[in-house]
Amino acid sequence: MRLLKFYQSSIGKKIVAAVTGAILFLFLVAHMLGNLKIYSGAEKIDAYSLHLRTFMEGFFGFGGFLWIARVVLLVAVVLHITSVVLLIRQNRQARPIRYRRKRRFATSIAALSMILTGPWILVYIVLHILQFTTGTLQPTPFKETPQGIGAVYFNLWNAFQVWWIAALYVVSMAFICLHLYHGLWSMFQSVGWNNPDRNRNVRLFATISSIALFLGFSSVPVLVWADVVPPPAGQDGTVVVEKVGVESPALVAEGQDSRD
Ligand code: HEM
Repeated sequence: MRLLKFYQSSIGKKIVAAVTGAILFLFLVAHMLGNLKIYSGAEKIDAYSLHLRTFMEGFFGFGGFLWIARVVLLVAVVLHITSVVLLIRQNRQARPIRYRRKRRFATSIAALSMILTGPWILVYIVLHILQFTTGTLQPTPFKETPQGIGAVYFNLWNAFQVWWIAALYVVSMAFICLHLYHGLWSMFQSVGWNNPDRNRNVRLFATISSIALFLGFSSVPVLVWADVVPPPAGQDGTVVVEKVGVESPALVAEGQDSRD
């Protein structure tokens, strides 16, 4: 099969890694912009979450479009990981003589950070979905809307009252953006789009986009924890599904300190 032959070639895998990396990068940009709606208030961010489910509802049904996006993302993650792992193996087999010391040091720092941040990101994504999408993990008060989806503002606000949850999110965002920085850089290198003229722009793009994503994502846990984001006041129609926190949402709404 032609497609399989293409994937088996080194350039085929590089292109698959680059295209899937680009899809994941676009997801991160969209997700970060969506999260920033928290600064417009509970109504806006909760309406956005509902909109993700009602988008093209007539055609795909409630949540149908979101499921298509989830499948695309999952396939992108799986293809991204497998093509990168296969490429590393292929490169090792093809290069029995190692680089000179200086080059090896630089590449090993980048590779080491990818090897550490990659698995961290995977674990993060699983825990993150269990906390905010399915509500399976509820270390803090968790609410659902009448449509049966997480009340985003309420859930985020309560989660980031706890300093270690906010801190874990900021550390995870740093790892994700470090991974992205190296990934963006090597993506341009590996598909052969690097040349001395372009390299400066590529590095600038990788630096600016990783820092912007880090700041945009991290601002939410930091500013919620720092009390800059106001508590969710009486979100009518929401139902408390379960509470495993130290205090009730009512106390939180009355302004009592709920920090750990
Ligand atoms: C501070 C940073 C972040 C916050 C506050 C945050 C918040 C959220 C919330 C509230 C949801 C549920 C949305 C809904 O149900 O409508 C969600 C879903 C999700 N987030 Fe994040 N997120 C953050 C960073 C990330 C990062 C960096 C990634 C990827 C590496 C990520 C991947 C996902 C995924 C895959 C979903 C599930 C989407 C779905 O299937 O419905 N998030 N996030």
